[in-house]
Amino acid sequence: MAETDSRKTIVLTGASRGIGHATVKRFSREGWRVITCSRQAFAEDCPWPAGPEDHIKVDLADQEDVGIAVSEIRHRLEAHGGQLHALVNNAGISPKLRTGSRMDSIETPMHVWRDVFQVNFFAPIMLARGLFKELAAAKGSIVNVTSIAGTRVHPFAGTAYATSKAALGSLTREMAHDFGPHGIRVNAIAPGEIDTAILSPGTDKIVETIPLRRLGATSEVADIIFFLCSGQASYVTGSEIHINGGQHV
Ligand SMILES: NC(=O)c1ccc[n+]([C@@H]2O[C@H](COP(=O)([O-])OP(=O)(O)OC[C@H]3O[C@@H](n4cnc5c(N)ncnc54)[C@H](OP(=O)(O)O)[C@@H]3O)[C@@H](O)[C@H]2O)c1
Repeated sequence: MAETDSRKTIVLTGASRGIGHATVKRFSREGWRVITCSRQAFAEDCPWPAGPEDHIKVDLADQEDVGIAVSEIRHRLEAHGGQLHALVNNAGISPKLRTGSRMDSIETPMHVWRDVFQVNFFAPIMLARGLFKELAAAKGSIVNVTSIAGTRVHPFAGTAYATSKAALGSLTREMAHDFGPHGIRVNAIAPGEIDTAILSPGTDKIVETIPLRRLGATSEVADIIFFLCSGQASYVTGSEIHINGGQHV
């Protein structure tokens, strides 16, 4: 058997930037096969050594496209024993007003609510259900990326974003209950202010009030995602870990 066949496999959405990119690096360092998902096709000049066979081009805002991606992922896993050890639902969108400020519950257009819920909430459950058989075969684990904005009003994160993340937090609990008897653990991580492109101007003001007085690094989030997918977290399911320097206290 080829050496690659013995590697554990993770499917990771939103792998191209920020927290997702750090997560690709962390799992690769640990010898995992990382199947990345994003809207961009695999760029031939990309320095990532895995190649196009480990990349899926998918627009998570499009339900039909998600269905096609699930079939394609299953097909690719089949060639490697039909097992999936981890699914990390990391991709997320957080639309803001043109000025960069928060979209509130009075003004947010319905099409924005729909897109946000499709990417942040429906895509994770569609992927988890679609890849259920492969996750069960590996006794794998799912990590849903929620947000500190899911449990309190945030100065920049919009209302559609916040409620989609709250729903994803609740879904994590429901999934842990339903997937657990099949040997699949389901957890969430709730980042606070992590140094990525999703942050708004003015975040430095928030940071002044965070107990640890700094932004989080993407690698610090990737470390917790890796921990939750590892055997070290084998009795952890239905949890949501806060990664925010104490911002929630
Ligand atoms: N950074 C923070 O402080 C923070 C705080 C709380 C929660 N979070 C959560 O952490 C996760 C990652 O955040 P981040 O800051 O790393 O975000 P980011 O830098 O904005 O990256 C977002 C990722 O999601 C992908 N994506 C967006 N829309 C997509 C779509 N329709 N289809 C497929 N992929 C899509 C993007 O890929 P392409 O554009 O290449 O397709 C990109 O890889 C998100 O769920 C976010 O809500 C972040």
